[in-house]
Amino acid sequence: HYLGIDVGTSAVKAILVDERQTAVAEADVPLQVSRPHDLWSEQDPEIWWQAVQSALDQLRTQSPSALANIRGIGLSGQMHGAVLLDENDLPLRPAILWNDGRSFREAQELGAKYPELSHATGVIPMPGFTAPKLVWLARHEPEIFRAVRKVMLPKDYIRLKLTGEIVTEMSDAAGTWWLDEAKRDWSDEALAATGLTRDHMPSLVEGSQASGTLRADIAQRWGLRSDVVVAGGAGDAAAGAVGLGAIEDGSAFISLGTSGQLFVTTQDFSPAPEAVVHSFCHAVPGRWFQMAAMLNGASCLAWGAHLLKRDIDELLRETEGAYRKPSSVLFLPYLAGERTPHNDPYARGVFFGLSPRTQQTDLVQAILEGVAFSFADAKRCLEQAGTPLTYAGMIGGGSRSVFWARIFASVLNVPMLRYQGSDKGPAFGAARLARLAATGEAPEAVCTAPSIIETIEPQPQLVELYGPRIEAFRSLYRALKPEFM
Ligand code: XUL
Repeated sequence: HYLGIDVGTSAVKAILVDERQTAVAEADVPLQVSRPHDLWSEQDPEIWWQAVQSALDQLRTQSPSALANIRGIGLSGQMHGAVLLDENDLPLRPAILWNDGRSFREAQELGAKYPELSHATGVIPMPGFTAPKLVWLARHEPEIFRAVRKVMLPKDYIRLKLTGEIVTEMSDAAGTWWLDEAKRDWSDEALAATGLTRDHMPSLVEGSQASGTLRADIAQRWGLRSDVVVAGGAGDAAAGAVGLGAIEDGSAFISLGTSGQLFVTTQDFSPAPEAVVHSFCHAVPGRWFQMAAMLNGASCLAWGAHLLKRDIDELLRETEGAYRKPSSVLFLPYLAGERTPHNDPYARGVFFGLSPRTQQTDLVQAILEGVAFSFADAKRCLEQAGTPLTYAGMIGGGSRSVFWARIFASVLNVPMLRYQGSDKGPAFGAARLARLAATGEAPEAVCTAPSIIETIEPQPQLVELYGPRIEAFRSLYRALKPEFM
């Protein structure tokens, strides 16, 4: 058996799979985000560790023998967060997360001062990434900056707890803006640009390689074997890809979780920073990917349901029942600011076109469409980066809704594939990486695509109606941009 653990933003998810890659137990422990100031988004690393421990407790209750049998653990996690450790490997402050916009000025300065570095690091510096956050820290919390001995990524803090090792892997290191993506090694230049050196960084392995073995006390506490291997694992984007078997050149999918991503695997490193595309190392050796990364995905729907005090599934059912054509209400989904394509932490959510006749279902439909329109922008960015989209798989919590998938197909004008078990997500990919590290099997043998439940084709009539709505969505953002400050 193999265990995958995903340290997400809204939950820690763990999945136990057997040799046939069937899930035998799953655990889900919710997490809160703290937003103490405008633009800030933080979590205390200790809550991740507590959540992982509860998840292990749950798995042991569900399936003690399967847990006792695991040969490997794979870690996945929210990317880009800055976990700052002191000389005793203890966190110096709460982690600054991927959707934190405070280091906007620092990101801009890095981009202006070191334009050539974005080609090596795979993306322009944006405030969500780890590097600009350290520049912010040096400026605003200098005593903490001076005390930093190691900068880690969220899931790698859990690795430290499990193995005692300070290690990260390529696909998560890729999102720091400190990695030379082509060389799959730290960039001394990028580190120097932020006042750091290699010594501040964890050592690097591939996602499918071993990073260490479980500490004896941990193994004992949960009744695990003493030789359990902990794999490098992956950032959640690449882990999702591994779960979907998207490790071959051109395999494409959208991920609709808290955030949203349009992801295409590439056999070469192909940077396109000017298109606000992320070109990052994949979780298996010799592969890269291009990704448009949006900060607002299914979280917009969760936010709407929370405000309306309604159940998400019920809202989806009602909205589908009322659906006739594109909504006359537009929704800009930029609740947490936006990365691709706007690089604008100040952007905010907007409902536009309300009238006395507007119903609750119009608002919900506008949310579903607004998120899909942001993926139309993402598709355009990937086209600019030389990667046209011909189809897309769908993963993440949002992929459970067939109705939303239909909207996506007609908005993006490509067939959308729905897979069996696609909501298992990054934790499942992490379990596959655990297996690769434990057995040394070839990635192609293990990372196969799940079976397709259905292919949802675009509807020509809707494609035509959505075209002008996408244009209106774009011009609404352009018109409002000066007001977002
Ligand atoms: C990807 C990104 C998010 C986080 C959160 O660039 O920022 O997907 O990994 O899950």
